Amino acid sequence: MEQASHDQPLALPKHVAIIMDGNGRWAKRKGKIRTFGHKAGVDAVRASVKYARENGICALTLFAFSSENWKRPEDEVKVLMELFNLVLNSEVKKLNKNDVRLRVIGDLTRFDKKLVDKIRKAENLTAQNTALTLNIAANYGGRWDIANAAKQLALQVARGEIDANSVDENALTEHISMADLPPLDLLIRTGGEQRISNFLLWQCAYAEFFFTPILWPDFNEAAFAQAVESFSERQRRYGMTGEQVTAATIC
Ligand code: FPP
Repeated sequence: MEQASHDQPLALPKHVAIIMDGNGRWAKRKGKIRTFGHKAGVDAVRASVKYARENGICALTLFAFSSENWKRPEDEVKVLMELFNLVLNSEVKKLNKNDVRLRVIGDLTRFDKKLVDKIRKAENLTAQNTALTLNIAANYGGRWDIANAAKQLALQVARGEIDANSVDENALTEHISMADLPPLDLLIRTGGEQRISNFLLWQCAYAEFFFTPILWPDFNEAAFAQAVESFSERQRRYGMTGEQVTAATIC
């Protein structure tokens, strides 16, 4: 792998996303039921938010519940929903005090109305915060996100607001989740698997990937720092040659 030159300042990621995997295995190794791992995972969420907030990361996006997670046993889905509710109750004030803006991305139409109201209230309360944007992906799927953006554009064409010929990559990007945030720089996946699992498909176009065998409840600030360090050492070429990138950086 071609490395970034150490003569240049280390690039830090502005936008990091995490696939928080391994809660079930972590619990099993301790002889506990899977939901014990999800509960322990909340501490790792806190540690990651703290790391991002203290290290100049602008946006942190966490995959909390995928559109496929409804297929899990009913009891597990129930516990995950309860956890989401509890986390909103216990953390929103703290997030607000720390200048963190909370947003939820995904299709919320399948969620309990009370939970959706709580989410919207938390988003409104923290809307003006600027130190960090924390995006929680809930009932999110990358394919849903792309299809949803395409649908918005199709509706605009049908209403005569835009010309069909203006539908291009830029137009779609404007309607995809988190369009107003810096592009995704780094995707971390814990738990040892090396796949994207229908997470931010569109947004990952030029993201760097970091896979770690650490199970999510064990992911701490040191583990986050290791992923950021790996990112800093890479050269992002966006289709260009290494020489072109180096020349562009020097000029
Ligand atoms: C994947 O581990 C984890 C999840 C599907 C849920 C993640 C949820 C949390 C960390 C807690 C709640 C967080 C918020 C932000 C409210 P897995 O169960 O697939 O683990 P396994 O691969 O070991 O089975």
